[in-house]
Amino acid sequence: MKVAVIGAGYVGLTTSACFAHLGHDVVCADLDVERVARLNKGEVPILEDGLPELVAEGLASRRLRFVLGATNAVLDAGVVFLCVQTPESADGSADLSFVEDVAREIAGVLQPGTVVVTKSTVPVGSTRFVQRVLSESGARAEDVTVASNPEFLREGQAVHDFLHPDRIVIGCDDPGAAVRVSDLYRKVQSPVLVTDPASAEMIKYASNAFLATKVSFINAIANLCEAVDADVREVALGMGYDPRIGFQFLQPGPGYGGSCFPKDVAALLHTANQADSDFELLAGVIQVNRAQRERIVEKITNGAGGSLSEAVVAVWGLTFKAGTDDLRESSALAITRRLLEQGAAVRGYDPAAGERAAREVPGLDIAADPYEAAAGADVVAVLTEWDQFRWLDFDRVRDSLRNPAIVDARNLLDPAAMRRYGFRYDGVGRR
Ligand code: UGA
Repeated sequence: MKVAVIGAGYVGLTTSACFAHLGHDVVCADLDVERVARLNKGEVPILEDGLPELVAEGLASRRLRFVLGATNAVLDAGVVFLCVQTPESADGSADLSFVEDVAREIAGVLQPGTVVVTKSTVPVGSTRFVQRVLSESGARAEDVTVASNPEFLREGQAVHDFLHPDRIVIGCDDPGAAVRVSDLYRKVQSPVLVTDPASAEMIKYASNAFLATKVSFINAIANLCEAVDADVREVALGMGYDPRIGFQFLQPGPGYGGSCFPKDVAALLHTANQADSDFELLAGVIQVNRAQRERIVEKITNGAGGSLSEAVVAVWGLTFKAGTDDLRESSALAITRRLLEQGAAVRGYDPAAGERAAREVPGLDIAADPYEAAAGADVVAVLTEWDQFRWLDFDRVRDSLRNPAIVDARNLLDPAAMRRYGFRYDGVGRR
């Protein structure tokens, strides 16, 4: 089946390369001339495990190609996936203008029988909104069906998650169209859940909001552990053995970030407010996340001796989590900005996104490695859990610091070992 994918970002690119890998003919469209040209040469602009290999495989087999503009992609497609961005508006709602623009552009050229699928994270009601925009713009309702097929891809593991999903959710009122979409995944082992469109859209938001709630919950427990002299790592382990709770997403840290959780939690809260449905719990999740960033700033201030003005802070890790080069809504970057605002000199190191971080945060110096970042600093802050930070020569780090203090916002390091090296160590929720 011919598949068109509109948008060559994280989701669109992964979707395109994986569908080509599964044997479909895929045309992926983007508006960025340079991005399209580079992709056609096999140059993948994002850090995503396994993606360059799948793009190369797709180009070599001619099952994957990249074109400029949505119209060129959809001409003879049977299924069209909308994977364009839905950024957060000023009021917290998801901005659907990119989705709307694409729907208007392609309405007149879709083949009869095409299924248009929203994969971008779109608010409840968007599937029907897209159907309406398509009809208004010249697509006949009896010819074009719209479905929702939300993605559950983690950045850094998106290819794995696409090919080994926990579930495939298809929201569509037309069973025939739902079967056509599910058929694209026939080589993938996974439960397939067919629902009405609104429920599919809600599944996506509820899943991300629930995971964000777990993160805020364990951050709140970590803070309480500090107050009562308990260790959150033991607590999370003891909780996780209960299969109703599970081990995942119980890592305390500097607060969740990325292009999804902050935006999606805000959008769900906005939806609840619009619907006059009380969801104080979500407001609390956002509040805990904000406070957690401040709490890490306080720990760094203490590590630097009580004041940030005149202090030199070494920041290890700038991306929103390890294994990605994505800086969007990164807690590490938000904390870095706060440190600079409060008068600290900040020298950062990140294995994947240092130079870009320096362009985004005026005043941030970037070092070539973690040692250079630490040299002469008053405190080191581990803000992203890159594995390489575990395996450093800590004698060298200690000797180069002006003051041997480490704030480990990811609980990456062993507190006892760090104290043996002679550091003042402060983690999150650890004794
Ligand atoms: C998230 C979801 O996990 C995916 O299922 C979803 O498809 C995706 O959003 C999306 O909506 O597109 P992602 O944004 O890649 O994926 O990041 P996660 O791995 O979920 O981590 C989110 C944030 O929570 C990161 O800042 C991470 O450091 C933080 N986190 C996660 C913790 O602080 N503690 C944990 O135990 C887990």
